[in-house]
Amino acid sequence: MNPEPRRLGSSSVFVGPLGLGCWPLAGMTRGGVTREAAVATVHAALDAGITHLDTAYCYGERGESELAIRQAIGGQRDAVVLAGKCGIHWEPDAGASPPRRQVVDGRPERIRAEVDESLVRLGTDRFDLLYLHAPDPAVPIEESAGALQELLDAGKARTIGLSNASVGNLTRFAAVCPLAACQMPFNMLQREIEADVLPWCIDRGVALVAYWPLMKGLLAGRMRRGQVFPPSDSRHKYPIFNGLEFERNLDFVDALRPVAARLHCDLPDLVLAWTAEQPGITSVLFGATSPEQVRENAQALACDLDDDARRAIRAAIEARGPVAGRRPV
Ligand SMILES: NC(=O)c1ccc[n+]([C@@H]2O[C@H](COP(=O)([O-])OP(=O)(O)OC[C@H]3O[C@@H](n4cnc5c(N)ncnc54)[C@H](OP(=O)(O)O)[C@@H]3O)[C@@H](O)[C@H]2O)c1
Repeated sequence: MNPEPRRLGSSSVFVGPLGLGCWPLAGMTRGGVTREAAVATVHAALDAGITHLDTAYCYGERGESELAIRQAIGGQRDAVVLAGKCGIHWEPDAGASPPRRQVVDGRPERIRAEVDESLVRLGTDRFDLLYLHAPDPAVPIEESAGALQELLDAGKARTIGLSNASVGNLTRFAAVCPLAACQMPFNMLQREIEADVLPWCIDRGVALVAYWPLMKGLLAGRMRRGQVFPPSDSRHKYPIFNGLEFERNLDFVDALRPVAARLHCDLPDLVLAWTAEQPGITSVLFGATSPEQVRENAQALACDLDDDARRAIRAAIEARGPVAGRRPV
């Protein structure tokens, strides 16, 4: 993988090809991630030279991800590229399990309040990259974009991004506020953005930051056939982890193993290296729940694919075919 830093749009902010996704640190994929483990996981990333940290107001019901990052970076604020998101929060929902639901709220007053709260939790006065987490269908996107532009002008963000958006919303947003980055799901089996969002970003010089590169852990290669995810593990809701779909995804993972073995790299490293070299992909955010996972994944920086590997991966993708249940609710 080319380890050189890449520019976010036309800004002066650069990120490495790999970033640490800090959603799992809040125990939101599955429980059992202690604050100690979360802090150690961030430290492992920094030790490996991975300084792009991706979090959000809603990563944890009470900002657990942001608080862990603050504890981990201590006084080293300038050593990291801090990316946050606003516009989604949690509300109680007695009928859900766990009893909470995500609410998208892109009103300017809500955006301003969340950003101020996040900055306090993080112990800083600015984000290096601040995304609107998702367009709010109830609020014209120009209004949300205007709030982000004000935060840029106020110095609370050095650059602005938009996540989970269509080309239509990206275009409308960028007409109000300059976009440095767009964050979307992208991995070997979920490549819908290649049809529209990715070409749009390439044309406009907007960085594409990829999330779910490991398909929430599946492409790391440690899941077992017949594995059943408990209700406390949010993966139980996704079609990709259930029934025949899960089996077919594990067949795909098995097809990648000899490719990784020939290149003398671990499976997550092959997967991350392939993802990071796809045209238009600026930075790849992997989540992790332990320092060991980070250390393993960071080896991707030293994993170089060759044309035989690329051909074998493409053949495995073709053989797997389309993946059901593209996006979770
Ligand atoms: N903008 C958005 O709306 C949005 C949405 C989703 C994610 N994101 C961002 O993108 C990041 C990445 O997504 P993600 O964390 O959901 O998924 P991911 O990176 O595809 O998968 C992360 C999970 O894979 C497992 N894993 C990682 N390394 C491993 C290894 N070496 N061996 C075995 N298992 C390993 C861990 O789960 P276990 O240890 O639990 O098995 C980890 O939590 C997030 O953290 C977040 O920052 C953004």
